[in-house]
Amino acid sequence: MLSIFTKKYFIKDLLEGFVDIHNHVLPGIDDGAKNTEESLILIKRLMDLGIKQFIPTPHIMQDFYPNTFETIGDSYQELLEALPRKIQKDITINPAAEYMLDNHFDVLLEHENLYTLKGLYVLIEMSYFQAPINLENIIFKLKTKGYIPVLAHPERYSFYHNKLEYYKKLKDIGCLFQLNLLSLGDHYGKSVEKVALNLLDEKLIDFIGSDVHNENHINKITELHVNESSINKLKKIIETTNNTFTVI
Ligand SMILES: [Fe+2]
Repeated sequence: MLSIFTKKYFIKDLLEGFVDIHNHVLPGIDDGAKNTEESLILIKRLMDLGIKQFIPTPHIMQDFYPNTFETIGDSYQELLEALPRKIQKDITINPAAEYMLDNHFDVLLEHENLYTLKGLYVLIEMSYFQAPINLENIIFKLKTKGYIPVLAHPERYSFYHNKLEYYKKLKDIGCLFQLNLLSLGDHYGKSVEKVALNLLDEKLIDFIGSDVHNENHINKITELHVNESSINKLKKIIETTNNTFTVI
């Protein structure tokens, strides 16, 4: 029987030196920070948690956030100009993107270089209603072009929640998985939390990211806690994330 005194392991205690490969701290170009003031607040709060390396990943989503190298570059410049020098020297910010697998992505993949998290890793996401019918084909194409696809928050796609075998298939064809920190609590709902822990138990998660859009997300991250078995698994995934994406 579980004791009511079962120890809580806080996830924030693992975040010293964490390389955050998924967040929306760049100002004014998606549903994350609205302006540089908000960006600075988010960055400072994440620094308080021990994060010093940021890979901001604004959405590139044709219908809502049609970002390009230019819009992302401009937003990054705006942020750098607003960042106090004493903060700039303590952190690194290397922008990338989170690509929605929409029709526009097929065009980009065909004709342009993609923003990578680092090296060849490309962060992709899908609609929460349905996967693209050609998902496996897109993964195959990404790999053919030399990229390594990293699917953002696989635990949030409810159409896969009862299909553990399909998650395994996606891994088998070369798609890596990035878990959201907030999926380890009830922020996105109990079923997402359950699937997140399940994917962790099945060793299907490669990397972890905050996917922070606003301060409320950071407040919730500071309160996240899991049991001993999960914290040990998370520790390893965070180490792998840091080792893979660190720029220092
Ligand atoms: Fe995101």
